[in-house]
Amino acid sequence: VSEGLLERGSQRTLALAIRSARASDAEVMASLLGQLGYPASAEAVAARLARLEGPSQLVLVAETDRVVGLATLHVMATIEHDRPVARIGALVVDEAHRGLRLGEKLVQRLEAEARARDCCLLYVTSANPRCRAHSFYLRLGFEHTGLRFTRSFSAPA
Ligand SMILES: CC(C)(COP(=O)(O)OP(=O)(O)OC[C@H]1O[C@@H](n2cnc3c(N)ncnc32)[C@H](O)[C@@H]1OP(=O)(O)O)[C@@H](O)C(=O)NCCC(=O)NCCS
Repeated sequence: VSEGLLERGSQRTLALAIRSARASDAEVMASLLGQLGYPASAEAVAARLARLEGPSQLVLVAETDRVVGLATLHVMATIEHDRPVARIGALVVDEAHRGLRLGEKLVQRLEAEARARDCCLLYVTSANPRCRAHSFYLRLGFEHTGLRFTRSFSAPA
């Protein structure tokens, strides 16, 4: 758990904790994933969370008086590098809490976790329409180094 304070202009300052997600967070995580464009039921999110257990995956939530942010990290061995690489998976801050540097704090924590796991690279892929997120990553020191190409597979018949 990392602790901090969330400044909201002249309004009250909220205590902020960034901690590992638990099954009891599934409902609010599902709501955050909906805001990210990946709607899911709380049950589905709880099942995914269980599948993400293990040292190579990290699922974090940011909590003030309630959970207001979600971030994931996936650490992988690759053939190109001697050291592991880390990918930011989901990153989303509740709509009513954006612009408060919560996203920045989540990314800083993911970066610290990637460094602690001896990663040589931290990267994130971000869909073309997410222009504000692109500015956000550039401001945090990420470089725009490539394009993403995807193919979706439907479930086998
Ligand atoms: C991108 C996101 C995680 C940033 O979190 P945040 O707590 O709002 O970000 P911070 O307060 O640390 O930084 C603010 C910056 O984020 C960016 N930003 C992106 N969307 C924003 C929004 N809806 N409101 C405010 N800032 C936003 C801006 O570049 C902003 O910079 P500015 O203040 O100079 O305009 C958050 O806005 C979000 O959840 N967006 C929707 C989901 C998304 O796009 N996720 C990234 C997927 S790759």
